[in-house]
Parts: sequence; structure tokens; C-alpha cells
Amino acid sequence: MKPNEEEVCEGLENIIPLETKIAYIDGIEGILEYRGYKLKDLSSLSYDFVAYLLLYGKTPEKSELDNFTKELRANRAIDEGIEEIIHVCNFNVEAMDVLRTAISYMAHCDEDLNDNSPESNLRKGIKLIAKVPTIVAAFRRVVMIDKIIPPDPDLPRGANFLYMLTGKKPTPLEADLMEKDFIISAEHELNASTFAVRVAASTLTDLHSAIIAGIATLKGTLHGGARLAAMNMLDEVGSADKAEDFVLNAIQNKKRIMGFGHRVYKTYDPRSRITKNLVKQLAQDRGESKWLKIAENLEKTVIRELVEKRGKPIYPNVDFYSAVSYKYLNIPPQLATAIFVNGRISGWIAHYLEQQSNNRLIRPRALYVGEHHLEVK
Ligand code: CMC
Repeated sequence: MKPNEEEVCEGLENIIPLETKIAYIDGIEGILEYRGYKLKDLSSLSYDFVAYLLLYGKTPEKSELDNFTKELRANRAIDEGIEEIIHVCNFNVEAMDVLRTAISYMAHCDEDLNDNSPESNLRKGIKLIAKVPTIVAAFRRVVMIDKIIPPDPDLPRGANFLYMLTGKKPTPLEADLMEKDFIISAEHELNASTFAVRVAASTLTDLHSAIIAGIATLKGTLHGGARLAAMNMLDEVGSADKAEDFVLNAIQNKKRIMGFGHRVYKTYDPRSRITKNLVKQLAQDRGESKWLKIAENLEKTVIRELVEKRGKPIYPNVDFYSAVSYKYLNIPPQLATAIFVNGRISGWIAHYLEQQSNNRLIRPRALYVGEHHLEVK
């Protein structure tokens, strides 16, 4: 069949190229479910529970969860080879670039290097889920010219990540915020990076290569890179009284306000609500309202100007309040998008496995609009 002009769909909006049992989004009602369970309910559980659900397609029994957690914690540490890679990376790059390089190196060393069976991919996947936060935290320590802090096997994922960044155990609220950030970031149907992972998986390439495709795609500013851009925007705005003018100027100059808008949600992003509530608690706990007030003024102005006056459904998306929460957690912008990977990694692996369990090469068509029949002179 020849593609004709009517078939071109810019940005693949509303195109459904495959079936999935991993996530469901209702963009009108603002509902997100992982494997049929509401995100709101899952967010009160542990990341390990959610990762198990995503990978195995069912909720774990207590013993299954205990074993899974044990396996993840046993695999958190990174070896000297990965540490050496981190040391030779450019300290000015984003942690995303370091993850891309370190995961590429991990592929070389994997004992299942040439085995692409589902069992081997699950083993590789568990190692990736376990080690990604350790790599991100180790990069931060190396940039600070400080000692890498090994993971603490007694701490849950969120708390352990913050501990590896600073060497200090986080407060329960900080730990809860980080854990929930990983959970809400874990999966989101066929977003651009997950699509990239599935396209790669459909060629039967190895898991590490597909995850690197996901990282490369998530990094862009219109996708996960919006988290970094939103952190920079908060710094640029600087104080709550400047937020309104910032938004008005952006609209006048046709600039995008980072961390706002979504291809699928035409209402408030349910992930953003969860983080916003926690940020409010943390701001109150700390007696430090600066970042929350800037955020609320940005949000209020965007909704007034774009939703109410212009009828555009532009609400805060997942990246906005995550960025605000990172300000409270003293996380540098350099790590922002890589922290997204700390969560999304399990969703990507679930999609890789699902793609290969019932595979057909993903290979769409393009409408050729160039010239024909030219002669080489
Ligand atoms: N600020 C100002 N205007 C916006 C924004 C924004 N953040 N987002 C969309 N619009 C406007 C856009 O200018 C356009 O207006 P008009 O119809 O007058 O030209 C209209 O809304 C539709 O925009 P679009 O680009 O066709 O929408 P899209 O579905 O292709 O884009 C998006 C979705 C997420 C790329 C976009 O909303 C955006 O650029 N947001 C800022 C970046 C961002 O926060 N990305 C994170 C996305 S969600 C989490 C993730 O995946 O990581």
C-alpha cells in the first residue's frame, strides 16, 4: 500500500500501533493505571512492589516481594569498572549521558551477553533496575570530588538513593517523596521513550541497547528533559512575585512553559497531584515556602491565561512538581532527568519484555515529498 497524504499523522497523535497490558491512561478524566491498578493506590506501596507488578504482570505475594526486594538490594552495588567509567566522564554533562555510557559498558560485562531469552532479559532487567540509582548518585559524588557512597541494603529505594547522594539518612518525608517520585515515574504507556524502547525491542536487539534508546529519547526537553528545564525555570523566576510576569512574557513570545502541557492529558496530570501534595507537606515541614509559592503562582497564571482565557488544556505535568520537589531535596538540575530513569527503568523493561513476547517489527511508512527522476550529472 502506498501512503497517501490523508494518512500522515504528525507526531503520531492518537495513532495506536500496538496493544499493551502494562498501563492505561484516560487523558480526559486524568486516570492512570498500571496493570489495572490505580496509580493513587499504588503510590502508597513500595517501588519494589510496583516494579514487580510491572515486570511480572501480577501483584506479588509477601514472600515473592521479599525475595524480589532482596534480589534488587543485593544487585545495587556497582563494580570498579563502572566507577572508572564515571570518573572519565565529562563532569559538566547531564547524569543522563553518564547513564547512557555506563549502561553501554554494563552490557559488555553481562554474564548473559549473548542470551536474549526472556529469563536472561529478566535477570539483566533486575540488575539495571537495581544499579541505575547507584550510578546516578555515584556520578554526583564524583562531580563533587567526594567519595562514592555504597548503597545501604537496609534502606528502601527512595531513601537509599538520597543516602547515596549525601551520606545522610533522609527524613521519613524526604524518603517518602523520593519513593513516590520513582513510583509515579515508573510507567506511562506509549510515551516517546517507551516507544523508542519498543521499536528497538521489535528488531530483537538486546535489552541494554533498547534501554539506551529509551535514555536517549527521554533526555529531550519535550519529554523527560522538561524536568531539568523546569528546575532551571524555577531558578530563573527566582521569586514568587516574578512568576506571573514570567508566564505572560513566555506566552507573548510564544515560548513553552516547561513542565506544562501533555499530548494525552487534557486535564490535570494525576501524577502531578501526588507530588504536589507531598511538596506542600515538605515545604511546611521545613518552614520554607519559596519554591512552592513560585510553583503555585506559575500554575495559577498558566491556568488563568491558557486554560481559562484561551481554552488550551495546559496543566502541570509530571515533570513540574517533580522539579519543585527536587529543589526541596537539594538535588542539582544535572541529575533531574536521570532521576526520572530511576523510576522509568522498570516500565521500559516491562515494555521490552512485552514487545518480544508477541513481536512484529515496528516499521511504519513515510510520505515521500521530495523530487523524482533526477539525473546524476
Ligand atoms: N507552554 C505554552 N504553550 C503550550 C505548552 C506549554 N508548555 N504546551 C503546549 N502549548 C500550546 C502550543 O503552543 C500549542 O498552541 P497553538 O495551538 O496555539 O499553536 C498547543 O498548546 C498545542 O501544542 P502542541 O505542541 O501541538 O502539543 P503536543 O501534544 O504536540 O505537545 C508537549 C505536548 C508535552 C510537547 C507540550 O505540551 C510541551 O512542549 N510542553 C513543555 C515541555 C514539557 O513539559 N514536556 C513534558 C511532557 S510530560 C512528561 C514527559 O513525557 O516527560
